[in-house]
Amino acid sequence: MSAPSENLSASALAHFAKAFQQAPLWMASAPGRVNLIGEHIDYNDGFVLPAAIDRYFIALAAPNGSREIRIRSSHFEEEAVLCLDTPPTPDKATTLWMRYPLGVLAGFLERGAKIPGLDVWVESTIPLGSGLSSSAAFEVAFSSALEQAAGLSLSQVEKALLCQRAEHEFAGVPCGIMDQFASIMGRKDHLLLIDCQSQEMTPIAMNDDSVSLLVANTNVKHSLASSEYAKRKADCDEAKAQLGVTSWRELREEDLASVSGLLDDVLYKRARHVVTEIQRTQNAVEAIADKCWEELGELMFASHDSLAKDYEVSCPELDTVVVIARELGVSGGVYGARMTGGGFGGSTISLVNTSQAQAVLSYYGDHYQEHTGIQLDAFITRPAHGAHALRIASDS
Ligand code: GLA
Repeated sequence: MSAPSENLSASALAHFAKAFQQAPLWMASAPGRVNLIGEHIDYNDGFVLPAAIDRYFIALAAPNGSREIRIRSSHFEEEAVLCLDTPPTPDKATTLWMRYPLGVLAGFLERGAKIPGLDVWVESTIPLGSGLSSSAAFEVAFSSALEQAAGLSLSQVEKALLCQRAEHEFAGVPCGIMDQFASIMGRKDHLLLIDCQSQEMTPIAMNDDSVSLLVANTNVKHSLASSEYAKRKADCDEAKAQLGVTSWRELREEDLASVSGLLDDVLYKRARHVVTEIQRTQNAVEAIADKCWEELGELMFASHDSLAKDYEVSCPELDTVVVIARELGVSGGVYGARMTGGGFGGSTISLVNTSQAQAVLSYYGDHYQEHTGIQLDAFITRPAHGAHALRIASDS
């Protein structure tokens, strides 16, 4: 099982002791995720193909004898105080980040969980706001710590839905299920094919050492991300209503031409992205099974184009990385690249030839800096194991 580095656990333990003058009793970690293909279709009944990555949110907790949960972190300036005796509501959050644990706590209290007052420390190696699902990992790590403290165990799906609800009702983002599923159910050396209509999940082996996944964080986050996200979902719901379908799965690529006259230009473009992306994701699974890396790479480039032109969720910085990837091409070690996650900044994912991965990393970094004046943070990752409780060594 892959686990957060010992450095992260050791640093979090030391921070906890310093912040609260006691040792934690419970510790849990939850990974971020990267999505290989199938973007903006988890809330559109589609298929997605994410993997948990070896970057983690870690949450440590110990009882504090009060009726409050006090959360601290070196990532956030203020302490968050969650009161256990008044029902959590979004307006109780004094900072944006506090909405996530508050929403998770609401889900536990609703189930009648007996949660003691707690001191909690959280720490992350997932760059925050980078499109790698730091918020889902935060929710899941916190939720895992609460399970331990309350002595209860939620099923994986129940936990994912509880965390997703926190995001909907407390953070105000009408997200799909991909991020929480990936963070909880991630499997080492596997992608997760999630059918977002049935919520069925199939692990897809991704263990050919000749190819690697390269994540590149553009280090930009445009502020319209969450409002535009909600607009895209509304566009898709509207398009579906106008077409008289209850699920996007009722349409195939070949049906698009015949429905084009029923929608205005914008809604048609949204529909075209959804329908073609659902197909690309299914094709990607076949390409992986056949180890056809060039074909998979082409599907990734096509997905990016569709997200940029039809779904309009990319941005110049993400496009720049993809242009650089195309410049390198297969002979330069890149099979394909695309934005990953919600868009408007954040990260790209590239499928690269392992033997050329280091050269690709430097090329990306140099050329991105040259074009944008911004530093690119890129790293090679492997699909990692999902959230789990961590043992605290007795001498710590
Ligand atoms: C965000 C959301 C996910 C998903 C992606 C886009 O990460 O949280 O549910 O919709 O955007 O694929």
